[in-house]
Amino acid sequence: VPDARGQRLAALRAALAGAHLDGLLITSLPNVRYLTGFSGSNALLFVGATDALLLTDFRYQTQVGDEVGDTVRVRIEPTSIWSGFWSALSGIPGLEITGFESSHLLHRDFERLLEQGRRWRWRATVDLVEALRERKDEDELASIRDAAEIGAAALARTIQSVRVGMTELDVCGVLEQSLRSCGSEAHPFPPIVASGPRSALPHARASTRAIALGDFLLLDFGATFRGYCSDITRTVVLGRASERQREVYAAVLLANERARMGVRPGMRGCDADALARTVLEEAGLGEAFGHSLGHGIGLEIHEAPRLSRVAETMLQSGAVVTIEPGAYVPEWGGVRIEDDVVLRDEGSELLTHIPRELIELS
Ligand code: GLY
Ligand code: MN
Ligand code: MN
Repeated sequence: VPDARGQRLAALRAALAGAHLDGLLITSLPNVRYLTGFSGSNALLFVGATDALLLTDFRYQTQVGDEVGDTVRVRIEPTSIWSGFWSALSGIPGLEITGFESSHLLHRDFERLLEQGRRWRWRATVDLVEALRERKDEDELASIRDAAEIGAAALARTIQSVRVGMTELDVCGVLEQSLRSCGSEAHPFPPIVASGPRSALPHARASTRAIALGDFLLLDFGATFRGYCSDITRTVVLGRASERQREVYAAVLLANERARMGVRPGMRGCDADALARTVLEEAGLGEAFGHSLGHGIGLEIHEAPRLSRVAETMLQSGAVVTIEPGAYVPEWGGVRIEDDVVLRDEGSELLTHIPRELIELS
C-alpha cells in the first residue's frame, strides 16, 4: 500500500504556495495525525516548502518513531516543545511568512509567536489541512467501515441486554463495554442513552432514570478504529409502540431514507439537509427537527463538510457524512436515526449496515 502521507504533505505544500506562505505551524492534533501518523497528545508540526519537523516529548519517544517512520524529521524535547520549536525554526532558511492554525492555537501560545517568534511574519489560516481531510482515501474508508461494523456489533449486543427497569447508565455501561470488546479504541464522545421523555433532549447524557415499558430508548454512540470514527443512532421502543410513536418514527425513517438515497457529490450541504427536512415538515414535524442533517466524520467525530440549512459549500466525492434526522417533542420523547455514508460519484454508499425498522423490545 503506497503511503498517503507523502501525498498529503505535497498537497498541503501546494496549498501553502497558493496562499503565499513559506510554512505552516500545525497545532491541531488530528491534523498532525493526518499528515504524519503521530497519535500522541503533545506535538507541534512545522511544514515548510522542503522540510517538515515534528516536535514531541519524552513520553512518545518510542511511539513517534513507530508511527512516523521517516515521513518527517522528529525532535524529542526534554523540556518544552516550544523551546525546541524556536531553535528549529531558526535553522530553516528562506522562511519569512508563516501560517498558524487560527482555530487551534491558544491565545497563550499565540503570544509566543508575537514574542519569541517576532522575527517571522505570522498569518492566520483556516482549514488548510481540514480541507485536505474532507475526501477520504480507500485506507481511511476501510478504517471508518471497520469502525461502523464495530458500532453495529456493539449495538446488537446492547439491545439484546436491555430490560425494563435498567437505568440509562446501566445501558450505557453495557454499550461502552460492548464497544470496547468489539474492538473500539476509544469512545469518540460519551454515548447518549436517553429514555422516555428524555429522548426529546437531542444531546442528553445517560442518567439514573430507570427505563419503563412504553418508552422510547435512543442510543447515539460511536466507535473508533485506527483513529477513525463512526457515529450511529438508533431508537427503539420498550414493549408495544403507541400509534403516535409509530407515526413519528415512520416520518424520521422516511427522512433518513430520502436523504441517504438522494445525497450526492455536487450538491450543497443545504440541499442535502432539505431532502430530510421537507419530509419532516410535510409530517408536521419541521419544528421538531431543530438540528442539522449531518456532518463529516473521520479522525474527528465532527468535521467538514456540514449538512445544514446554511451550508453553501458543495459536497465532494469521497466525503464521509452522517445522515441523522430527528424529531423531538418536549416532555414526550424523540426519535433520531443516524447512519454514515460515503459520497461516491454515482450517489452514496452506506457504511452502517444496521436494521432501521422500529424494534419493539419485549
Ligand atoms: N452525538 C453527536 C452526533 O451525532 O453528531
Ligand atoms: Mn451521533
Ligand atoms: Mn452525528
